[in-house]
Amino acid sequence: MVKIDGKTMTCGLLGNPVEHTMSPAIHNTLAELQGHSLVYVPFLVDHGKLGQAVAGARALHIKGLNVTVPYKTEVMQYVKELDPLAQQIGAVNTLVETEEGYKGYNTDMPGLYRAMVSEGIRIEEEKVIVLGAGGAARAVCFLLAFHKAKQVYLLNRTVDKAQKIAEEVNGFLGKELVVSMALQDYDRLPDEKMLAIQATSVGLAPHDDEVVIDEPAFYEKVHTGYDLIYRPLETKFMKCVKAAGGAAYHGLKMLLYQGIIAYELWNHVFVSEEQAEVVYEAMKEAMGI
Ligand code: ATR
Repeated sequence: MVKIDGKTMTCGLLGNPVEHTMSPAIHNTLAELQGHSLVYVPFLVDHGKLGQAVAGARALHIKGLNVTVPYKTEVMQYVKELDPLAQQIGAVNTLVETEEGYKGYNTDMPGLYRAMVSEGIRIEEEKVIVLGAGGAARAVCFLLAFHKAKQVYLLNRTVDKAQKIAEEVNGFLGKELVVSMALQDYDRLPDEKMLAIQATSVGLAPHDDEVVIDEPAFYEKVHTGYDLIYRPLETKFMKCVKAAGGAAYHGLKMLLYQGIIAYELWNHVFVSEEQAEVVYEAMKEAMGI
């Protein structure tokens, strides 16, 4: 347990609700491992009070904040500066105290990238399938663009939404990276095995047995499946990938690394893979798994 004294720094989470967060387990374990006198606490922010919450945090010299549902977009208007990736994605989940005010970052996508790297999954020069066209899928497409994927096949129930994201990302890059398709058109995908990222909300507990595409023929095109969902730890999507002989991963390490990257930004430190393992165990214990 961190010794609290006059020099202890405070970090925290702004959201509504906040009671199920794993972030205190992540950051308080990191503070202990790094020997920092830092405590991390959840702050429940009432609707309509986000601006006041950020101003209050600044007045109190809260060193760093995470921002969660429903404030990741709204908080962008209360920061002094925005990291370019966060600006592009249109969502901020981390605030870092600077002399002028808070600087807003998105560590969700770099977190996903670092989680994939830690599992040995490559994006660079790869063809990647993305399922979904909501905020999460859009952010994933920008991440894939930043990390130079070769081609992205964006499949969604509502093709118009996939089309819009494709136009945005392709316009940003100045080349045709993202190809939009309807879910049922998966048979038009190239006849080869690819990485597939599941970025819809389908399969989230308690709807554990739901999946966007359940035809085995689709999974013949997947060598690795990455589901952003981590409740349950094995989704139907993951089961389908495994049934077709592929490797499958849940999104819990993405949650771990978004926290680790935020902690690194707040404290100007590097968290090793060994320390990340310890934090991962603490997180799982807090989740009761
Ligand atoms: P987020 O911001 O977390 O990505 P979202 O914007 O609500 O959430 O997006 C949810 C995604 O899940 C969308 O791609 C949605 O498909 P539509 O764009 O067609 O709505 C997808 N989704 C949700 N329920 C679905 C279902 N039953 N079948 C297929 N796709 C579904």
